[in-house]
Amino acid sequence: MNTPKQRVTVLGSTGSVGVSTLDVIARHPERFEVFALSAATKVDEMLAQCAQFSPRFAVMASAPHAQLLAEKLKQSGLKTRVLMGSDAIENIASHEDVDAVMAAIVGAAGLGPCLAAARAGKRLLLANKEALVVGGELFMRTVREGGATLLPIDSEHSAIFQSLPEDPSTWARRIDKIILTASGGPFLTRSPGSLGAVTPEQACAHPNWVMGRKISVDSATMMNKALEVIEARHLFGVSPEQIEVVIHPQSVVHSMVQFTDASVIAQLGTPDMRVPIAVGLAWPERIESGAARLDFRQMASLTFDAPDAALFPGLGLAWHALRAAPGTTAVLNAANEVAVEAFLDRRLRFDRIHAVNMETLETVAPSKPASLADLLALDASARAAANAAALRFAA
Ligand SMILES: NC(=O)c1ccc[n+]([C@@H]2O[C@H](COP(=O)([O-])OP(=O)(O)OC[C@H]3O[C@@H](n4cnc5c(N)ncnc54)[C@H](OP(=O)(O)O)[C@@H]3O)[C@@H](O)[C@H]2O)c1
Repeated sequence: MNTPKQRVTVLGSTGSVGVSTLDVIARHPERFEVFALSAATKVDEMLAQCAQFSPRFAVMASAPHAQLLAEKLKQSGLKTRVLMGSDAIENIASHEDVDAVMAAIVGAAGLGPCLAAARAGKRLLLANKEALVVGGELFMRTVREGGATLLPIDSEHSAIFQSLPEDPSTWARRIDKIILTASGGPFLTRSPGSLGAVTPEQACAHPNWVMGRKISVDSATMMNKALEVIEARHLFGVSPEQIEVVIHPQSVVHSMVQFTDASVIAQLGTPDMRVPIAVGLAWPERIESGAARLDFRQMASLTFDAPDAALFPGLGLAWHALRAAPGTTAVLNAANEVAVEAFLDRRLRFDRIHAVNMETLETVAPSKPASLADLLALDASARAAANAAALRFAA
């Protein structure tokens, strides 16, 4: 008997994770069919994806980009229907004909579509870490109530997921500690005082991973790891004290779980996002990802170290925000998005990203967010405070 193809929506299809997802899908035409794609600005990339995958819908975030795409599709004789805006993105994430959704939009803009897919009970492949950092309990509750299957795509969380037993009801009594590995990014060997003059190009040149610009800067500050600590707390139901971060510059061990009997299970592999994407697409099966295999005979050493709090002051904000009032992680995320954008636009020095985050956390007092509207309001006020702080620290 033939298994029906999984119909997949890829949100953020023109980004780093989106492109890797389509690469894995293209390797398995008998298993997957692209139902819809979404992007923000890259019209030509979207056109090429429509030509290759013939999705039913292509959604652009704004009207001018949607219009341009529609014209180009028409000229090319392609039948994909073009839609526009955040409501349309939510619609392709929750459409009744969709089986699986890859959530690979960057930033808090991904929260609404993730909630829509969760509410509709989809198989939700979660790359957009901000959805969990901003949405927290509300997001996890929506996943439970909607009956969605949540599959982590961040390589660290996929590693933890793969190291845990399949039945989540056993996790609480078995997990002693979750150990997230971090490469340390491009500035691992620098001194804290030497980071004032680093450029966006230097910050985005990650030694092991090829990623979008926002997450690359977050890796350089280790705010990425801070966001992952918050993600792990929600995904695996552990307390902040049960999460530890270790520096592992080789990026071979993607993360580990220490169990109550003191044994540790880790997942290893080459640093290639197509591995966790293939895991998410096929789980509980395994399929070819296209990634290179590890060659243990060529591996000189695997090292592990404690992170330097003076070099990476942002990392500790994860535990601070998790212990503070509900909504604090959403404030931290908004502040960091604003600060990173200001750095990428050369309006803020790299070593002042942390100062903007700290000041925003001190300025904005969150009230417990009970709905998406509450979260969006909190996100907006944190962005306003962070923009003001970024202006002041730019001076
Ligand atoms: N890259 C990685 O290796 C990696 C690993 C783990 C987790 N993640 C997480 O996965 C997510 C995506 O990361 P990425 O590196 O793939 O980012 P990216 O390369 O910057 O791609 C982001 C995608 O989102 C679209 N987009 C941007 N702003 C949008 C908006 N306001 N509304 C709708 N779509 C929007 C972009 O469209 P255009 O390109 O057309 O403008 C692009 O398709 C992030 O949350 C990141 O933290 C990434």
